[in-house]
Amino acid sequence: MYDFDKITGRHGTGCVKYDGLEGQFGHADLLPLWVADMDFETGDFIVDALRERIAHPVFGYPEVGPEYFRTIAGWVEKLHGWKVDPEHFRFIPGIVRGFALLEHFLLGKGDKVVIQPPVYHPFRITAQEQGFGVVENPLVPIYGDDGFLETYKMDLGGLERICGDPAVKMLVLSNPHNPCGVAWDAGTLAAVADIAVANGVTVISDEIHCEMMLGGARHVPFASVSGNAAKCSVTFMAPTKTFNIAGIVSSYAIIEDPELRDRIFGWLDATEISYPGIFSITATMAAYTKGARWREEMLEYVQANVDFVDGWLRENLPEIRAVRPQASFLIWLDCRRLGLPQEELNDLFVNKARLALNDGTMFGTGGEGFMRLNAGCPRSVLAEALRSLEKALKQ
Ligand SMILES: Cc1ncc(COP(=O)(O)O)c(C=O)c1O
Repeated sequence: MYDFDKITGRHGTGCVKYDGLEGQFGHADLLPLWVADMDFETGDFIVDALRERIAHPVFGYPEVGPEYFRTIAGWVEKLHGWKVDPEHFRFIPGIVRGFALLEHFLLGKGDKVVIQPPVYHPFRITAQEQGFGVVENPLVPIYGDDGFLETYKMDLGGLERICGDPAVKMLVLSNPHNPCGVAWDAGTLAAVADIAVANGVTVISDEIHCEMMLGGARHVPFASVSGNAAKCSVTFMAPTKTFNIAGIVSSYAIIEDPELRDRIFGWLDATEISYPGIFSITATMAAYTKGARWREEMLEYVQANVDFVDGWLRENLPEIRAVRPQASFLIWLDCRRLGLPQEELNDLFVNKARLALNDGTMFGTGGEGFMRLNAGCPRSVLAEALRSLEKALKQ
């Protein structure tokens, strides 16, 4: 059994989550529950593989042999039941860089990108800052009988209307969705694909959180749902969130449509953007050949963390409700019943409770009144955070 209760100090390791607190929040002494990496130690099978490689003191150009993509394809098929030819994969130096690069490569002046907020903020920033238009198709909240927010659905009618604008050329999809934790079903994804194909829109499906499904939910890869979906899309996946190796940088693109693939892979290969570093290859191979048990135990632990946060809030702070994620370690907290403007909500978390969470408004429309909590940490840390929050609220 791996020990996910273990506290491993990260201060002074040059990591954003701890060492970036002062810069981001103005205080270095907050409990960090923000940036989406986990506080669990990366599995020994990855650390050992890296050590073994480092033991040889020559770090020349690595060879990307066929085994690399065969291993990734085998993992994708085992996890999602999606059989992809190993030739349809390419390395990508990070997923944000991946969709930013594709926006740069595929879009022209005046083109627009659709995003569905509240959503991972680089979806907006990469398009906007490269000079493209950003059109929002906000998610639709779904409330339970008790009046609390339960989950979200996509506004397919809204998407169809938006895609009818000839300037709209791309949709960036978060599947499963960050920060709301929604696992999109095959019917929704197939409808999105039909709208995209009918309007000449390319779908970039960011599936970085797909290896961390919770509560029996299954991941449906966008490109797997229909011929249209395979035809119009580029899929991004990675071992980095799952195995806590974001700092190593290793991700990959999958393209099923031959024309789109030749065009994009031709460019990625010619520019060597698709050429991985040694440690990306070593860490990915170790994760995907030796990491199955670690992943399962980590997911059990994360699921128990989600249950813990949800249960604790219901019992002790019912004004704050966790929208239970169907994937990953990020919990979308609905704090609207506190009735606080966002500035006061941030003041409560940061200055009074001494906690660093992501402010919901950074995820755009629909994020007001929310905070995003990273539950990828030892449970004792979550317990301490919740107690601090309760104390701050009752002050
Ligand atoms: C939806 C989503 N995409 C991409 C990323 C970042 O991926 P990368 O580090 O490969 O750029 C994150 C990290 O939180 C994410 O949540």
